[in-house]
Amino acid sequence: MKITNLLNKKLNKKSSSKEMFARDILKGLLAENKNISSKYFYDDLGSKIFQKITRHKDYYPTRKEIEILSKNIPVLPRIINDDKIDIIELGPGDGSKSKIIIESFMSSDYKVNYYPIDISKKALNLISKKIKPNNKLFIHGINGEYLSGLKFIKNKSKNLKLVLFLGSNIGNLRKQQSEVFVKNIKKNLYKGDYVLLGFDLKKDIKILNKAYNDSSNLTKKFNLNLLKRINNELNGDFQINKFEHVGLYNPKLGAMESYIVSKVNQRVKIKNLSQTFDFKVYEPIHLEYSFKYSIDDIQHLCIKTGFTSVKNFYDSKKYFTDVLWRND
Ligand SMILES: C[S@@+](CC[C@H](N)C(=O)[O-])C[C@H]1O[C@@H](n2cnc3c(N)ncnc32)[C@H](O)[C@@H]1O
Repeated sequence: MKITNLLNKKLNKKSSSKEMFARDILKGLLAENKNISSKYFYDDLGSKIFQKITRHKDYYPTRKEIEILSKNIPVLPRIINDDKIDIIELGPGDGSKSKIIIESFMSSDYKVNYYPIDISKKALNLISKKIKPNNKLFIHGINGEYLSGLKFIKNKSKNLKLVLFLGSNIGNLRKQQSEVFVKNIKKNLYKGDYVLLGFDLKKDIKILNKAYNDSSNLTKKFNLNLLKRINNELNGDFQINKFEHVGLYNPKLGAMESYIVSKVNQRVKIKNLSQTFDFKVYEPIHLEYSFKYSIDDIQHLCIKTGFTSVKNFYDSKKYFTDVLWRND
């Protein structure tokens, strides 16, 4: 698989990806409410742990979305009704879902150009093992941020485009940010192009809390791995066992929130940042939101961003939905 690296180019003419990581960690840990962006979860170990989470019995989103895709996606090639398509995927992870979608287009005799865009090189490596090019399938991976990847691909071909943003990645954005983000996707599409978006639906809070606090402590390991990544890449001296993972549902926001909480008063040094950071006992570092949607929220987003809703696909329990919108 051909891979274009947009990350090691100087981003915004200012910094490389390593410099950006260092700058974001410094900014986040100096903030009044400490935070680390969830986009940094997926180093090699983080990607491996995430794959295990997706297979865990307590974590329903991947299972439910695969159920939706396996049952419903064969109708997509008929709805789109062409013979060639550019499938662009934002944050594909290991490509399990991508494979189902690509195969359904190929078996309907489409010629497919597949462009996975992921900030994690590890994710693209997993895809190149899982999905092999052939005479009906061309694959070009982009190692970069979602929108810079989309912009890069926009002028590559005039084929009809289908943008995939699955796994409720959209839920990591606050509601207002998600509107801006979807409008930015739209700017990089032509008339008649499609998006398929995955949304985790609002549901019984017990089911949510269980999914984000799995009984094998995989999510705990996944979140604390961020501190390991800082130790490895920025020469930090975080003692991982002195921090705790906390995942809880905030009903007012309608979102799961993930934190790392300091168990003691402690000072941490990060050599490459030439900085020490003080953590008070029980002080949180915010990592991630995972916003849950109602059908009305989704419809509202569709209208606000100027797409036309074509079809909503659901799993049997209505835990999750993948929605198909057209750019008319
Ligand atoms: C939660 S995983 C989801 C994977 C897949 N979409 C699924 O449904 O299973 C998120 C993926 O998005 C990638 N990612 C997160 N933030 C990103 C960003 N800003 N730009 C590009 N990729 C990003 C991560 O590296 C990871 O592979």
